[in-house]
Amino acid sequence: MQKLLSDLGTVTAIIGAQWGDEGKGKVTDILGEHFDVLARACGGANAGHTIVIAGKKHVFRLLPSGCLHPGKPVVLGTGMVIHLPTLLEEIEMLEKANIEIVHRLHISAAAHIVFDYHKELDAWQEEQKGKDSIGTTKRGIGPAYMDKIGRTGIRIGTPESEIKSALTTRAVSLKKETGLTMNVDHEMAEVARALKKVGSRIHASVPTLLHDFLSRKKSIVIEGAQATLLDIDHGTYPYVTSSSTTAAGALQGLGLAPRALSSCIGVVKAYCTRVGSGHFEAEEKGERGDRLRERGGEYGSITGRPRRCGWLSITDLKFSSMINGFTLLNLTKLDVLDEEEEIPVQDEHGTWQSLPGWKTSTVGITAWDKLPSAARTYIDWIEKAAGVPVRMIGTGPGREQMIVR
Ligand code: GDP
Ligand code: IMO
Ligand code: MG
Repeated sequence: MQKLLSDLGTVTAIIGAQWGDEGKGKVTDILGEHFDVLARACGGANAGHTIVIAGKKHVFRLLPSGCLHPGKPVVLGTGMVIHLPTLLEEIEMLEKANIEIVHRLHISAAAHIVFDYHKELDAWQEEQKGKDSIGTTKRGIGPAYMDKIGRTGIRIGTPESEIKSALTTRAVSLKKETGLTMNVDHEMAEVARALKKVGSRIHASVPTLLHDFLSRKKSIVIEGAQATLLDIDHGTYPYVTSSSTTAAGALQGLGLAPRALSSCIGVVKAYCTRVGSGHFEAEEKGERGDRLRERGGEYGSITGRPRRCGWLSITDLKFSSMINGFTLLNLTKLDVLDEEEEIPVQDEHGTWQSLPGWKTSTVGITAWDKLPSAARTYIDWIEKAAGVPVRMIGTGPGREQMIVR
């Protein structure tokens, strides 16, 4: 671990290389122990990041997954869109577990608010699209970012009276355009409830805060949300999310200079999954896909939606690596492949190949040389084909089920 940490340096970003749910939460939690500051940069409660500690599962949606480590500052960046009731729910969940969070939380005043009406509008827009729907998480993400980009969004630092007047105006156009009724009083009551709890934790300049941390030699781990192939610019548009999910997006979302980043971890499943609609060339629809889904527990951590399962594409991985500049990979969920006779993979030329499976359990293995040789061959092959070293390998959902080399 020491060698890995020294290679990671002061600021590292953890970025999904595929279509999300690669296991970003788990690696953030593991590294969170060793970094000083934990940050989320973009996206909102469309994220579902799972960590498993001593058999107990915790799912984070807005707070970075490393926040269970006590006492560390937690930053919600400017690029985020925040549904305040969800944030309160997460805070309460931690408080019930006796983990103090409010006093070390820093919320960017410039992050945008996701209102309940955004969620309804999200569902409405999906319904209008019919068979062409995106398959969104219905968390109001698209509508909130539409307001932000359209320069009509409401930021967390906006005074309450201005929020109320903006919502009142918006309620009229919403009704006219969609027939949806916004309950302004309800929205305002939720804002008031949130401000009571975290109002004092709203920070006027998160970029300045982070630069102060860096000038005091504090290290920062940035937990990416969603993933590269869901990026609004570089993903499989229009079947993408509405934020910039890449390393560049993470820096932008926090107001960190590009040169501040000392490393970037690409998180990649040993196979591949996707939720929602859109192209997925390596999808395995038959019985083998079902087996991956069952073994990998591939159901949305929040929505419970079954994830589409398939195989690893080196073409996609190389693309993600190119966009993000991965300095190393965390290959996750190796153990899910334990029963496969052979493992299809798409090489860098887009050609399908089959690599031999290992047909033995890798669950919980923590040392590279304890892995069956076919598993090591599989990982060596990925490393060579992708051109990025695989320094972390997941062998189970638990915090301790990780090989670090
Ligand atoms: P994230 O959105 O990238 O943080 O990933 P999710 O939490 O949505 O989905 C990853 C799922 O895989 C979670 O249920 C994790 O507990 C689980 N997981 C993470 N790493 C491993 C691993 O190495 N092996 C297995 N079997 N499960 C893992
Ligand atoms: P984490 O951070 C997987 C997908 C949705 C849909 C598309 C747009 O847990 O990896 P949105 O609600 O963002 O407008 O939906 O993006 N999507 C995710 N898929 N993991 C996620 O987050 C996702 N966040 C959004 O399924 O296809
Ligand atoms: Mg997830």
